[in-house]
Amino acid sequence: MKKLLTMNELTITEIEKILQEAEGFANGTSWNPKQQTMVANLFFEPSTRTKSSFEMAERKLGLEVIPFDAGTSSVLKGETLYDTAKTFESIGVNALIIRHEQDNYFDELKEKLNIPIINAGDGCGNHPTQSLLDLLTIKQEFNSFTGLKIAIIGDVMHSRVAKSNAEALTRLGANVVFSGPPEWFDRNNSLGRYEDIDQAIATSDVVMLLRIQHERHNEKYNQANGDYLARFGLTKQREKNMKPGAIIMHPAPINRGVEIDSDLVECSRSRIFKQMQNGVFIRMAVLKNVLEQFEGGIIHENCHQK
Ligand code: CP
Repeated sequence: MKKLLTMNELTITEIEKILQEAEGFANGTSWNPKQQTMVANLFFEPSTRTKSSFEMAERKLGLEVIPFDAGTSSVLKGETLYDTAKTFESIGVNALIIRHEQDNYFDELKEKLNIPIINAGDGCGNHPTQSLLDLLTIKQEFNSFTGLKIAIIGDVMHSRVAKSNAEALTRLGANVVFSGPPEWFDRNNSLGRYEDIDQAIATSDVVMLLRIQHERHNEKYNQANGDYLARFGLTKQREKNMKPGAIIMHPAPINRGVEIDSDLVECSRSRIFKQMQNGVFIRMAVLKNVLEQFEGGIIHENCHQK
């Protein structure tokens, strides 16, 4: 694994290896590169979880993090993403973690950069490390993906999390269904059918909610009147109808009272903060795999169990 741009580029075996190694990191396994290794987190879109959990993962692995703030960078003077990335390569950074608003931004970089890229989210396209941490959370709960029913509910059309998860979960044998505003669901979506919200919530093992991605809408959706929660959100009544043992997930950030009743965010079914905790271990495993296997890389394995 020399890069991580989409879930589709990972084999099932590679996904299973990352989940296993993330579990190892959660249980105290440590790994450090033998030589000084520099990384930079190039975030051109807002982020709390992904950016800070990558940084946590990098520090836990002993990597050195070169700071980058898009808001004070030469991007403001018109520098392109490519020239920004090439600059970090030129000064000696060993890997880049990139979030950018443009779908498939990595297409213009992947053949021209000689250092690995880890995609931390591209527009409406992909969010592979979010998907991997979601897979780990589901595996910890159910041990297997085969036959599980996963409902992905909300702004499906604009969600990179929905796409990455639907692709991966379908390949792993889960049954993915979608719900939410029908106009935000593409009927040509081959990864799962659309289901009525009440049926989807009452019959699924995992209820995965999505934020309305206002920043990707041409017209602002009015969520002020509470109508969205009643029509398309996880209300307390709908939660009561969930299957015994079913869990609630959300990639966050959450808009409390919109896609989920605020009181359910930390209820006993919720794994939302567990997902964030798993994010650190998944990102440690992804960084380890990318750095170890990057052709011409300087990294050598130095693994020890606690
Ligand atoms: N889930 C997620 O990507 O959160 P951030 O936008 O805060 O990174």
